[in-house]
Amino acid sequence: MIKVGIVGAGAMGTGIAQLAASNGHIVYLYDSNATALKKASEKLHQTLQKLTDKRKISEKEMHEILRRFHFTEKKLDDLKDCGLVIEAIIEDVQAKKMLFKELQEVVSEDCILATNTSSLSITAIAAACEQSTRVIGIHFFNPAPLMKLVEIIPALQTNTAVVEKARKLIESWGKTTVLAKDTPGFIVNRVARPFYGEALRIYEEGIADIATIDWAMKEIGGFRMGPFELMDFIGHDINYTVTETVFAAFFYDPRYKPSFSQKRLVEAGYLGRKSGQGFYSYAENTIQPEPNKNEALGEQIVRRIVIMLINEAADAVFWNIASNEDIDLAMTTGVNYPKGLLKWADGLGIPECVEMMDALYRNYHEDRYRCSPLLRRMAREGETFY
Ligand SMILES: NC(=O)c1ccc[n+]([C@@H]2O[C@H](COP(=O)([O-])OP(=O)(O)OC[C@H]3O[C@@H](n4cnc5c(N)ncnc54)[C@H](O)[C@@H]3O)[C@@H](O)[C@H]2O)c1
Repeated sequence: MIKVGIVGAGAMGTGIAQLAASNGHIVYLYDSNATALKKASEKLHQTLQKLTDKRKISEKEMHEILRRFHFTEKKLDDLKDCGLVIEAIIEDVQAKKMLFKELQEVVSEDCILATNTSSLSITAIAAACEQSTRVIGIHFFNPAPLMKLVEIIPALQTNTAVVEKARKLIESWGKTTVLAKDTPGFIVNRVARPFYGEALRIYEEGIADIATIDWAMKEIGGFRMGPFELMDFIGHDINYTVTETVFAAFFYDPRYKPSFSQKRLVEAGYLGRKSGQGFYSYAENTIQPEPNKNEALGEQIVRRIVIMLINEAADAVFWNIASNEDIDLAMTTGVNYPKGLLKWADGLGIPECVEMMDALYRNYHEDRYRCSPLLRRMAREGETFY
């Protein structure tokens, strides 16, 4: 069994390390910061102890897993025997490129070098390596041991054998993998943008308040969390940065335009749950705002957000970002959507989807509401996604 190296012992690196060690791999966890490494070691001990207490693993298994960890600081050299190294350091392309340059000098020729980046170009990171064909994106979701979905993103340079090998290995860890083209946001962080963006727009236009939008999306739409609750949960600093990054990376396509309401929250330090204040207040004894449970208004909100999500998913198919099946699988397993968006489109009827988008466009005359050419063609030709 190959040894796995993890670089960056933060939230993601620690989770991925736990996953790999639980699946029998010897794991080398490297971080340039000794404190981070110490915290990671404590976190892993705590988590595994909790799993033992809950009888998810036996005491013996816990000790076996713990024995597989090697914590290593300022000695990238320790990773020399690894068959796979997954990078999970700060989201900075220059830092990542520098690390990959160093890594290639340490590991053997057949070692796969993977990045867990959420938003950077895998191709740009791969270009830092002489043997760039072995570099790939393996995008886990937080927390990595629990979240089922992993996006596999070949760089322009990646060898197909590397793609297959990486995919097989991650699936052997019990994960569901989907294949995505190296474009901003890959699948989930691209297709999910309207869940936040359109909800913010409806709120900013004064069509409904946050409590009503959240109520509608949960009660009528069947989503687990409302957009505002979810943004508060993720943290506005993170969610806003992803939106801004995707917007810039798409050459400022108005579909991905960030919102001023969210920008102001970040400026105020109202980051959501973690700071005690976001769209909602989390202070003790706060009386939360009541939704307006008007069914017709609720339906209107859900239809508008869902059609924007469907349009985004269809456009990802149009641009060959991923297959129909992988897009639906990514959204149902990665962000727990109640239904695959393309399946949802079939259910609504493709001509109806086109009409819903065109109605928005007629109302606003903004490029943001342009219907995907794929939906238009499918409606014309009487096609469905499945
Ligand atoms: N947090 C998430 O929800 C999430 C989800 C998917 C992917 N990601 C991606 O995973 C990566 C890590 O995210 P995170 O949330 O775990 O970050 P984090 O800030 O929790 O951890 C990053 C760690 O990397 C270390 N580090 C920084 N530069 C380093 C270097 N040059 N060499 C070695 N170690 C270095 C830091 O000391 C820190 O411990 C990012 O690329 C992020 O975009 C994050």
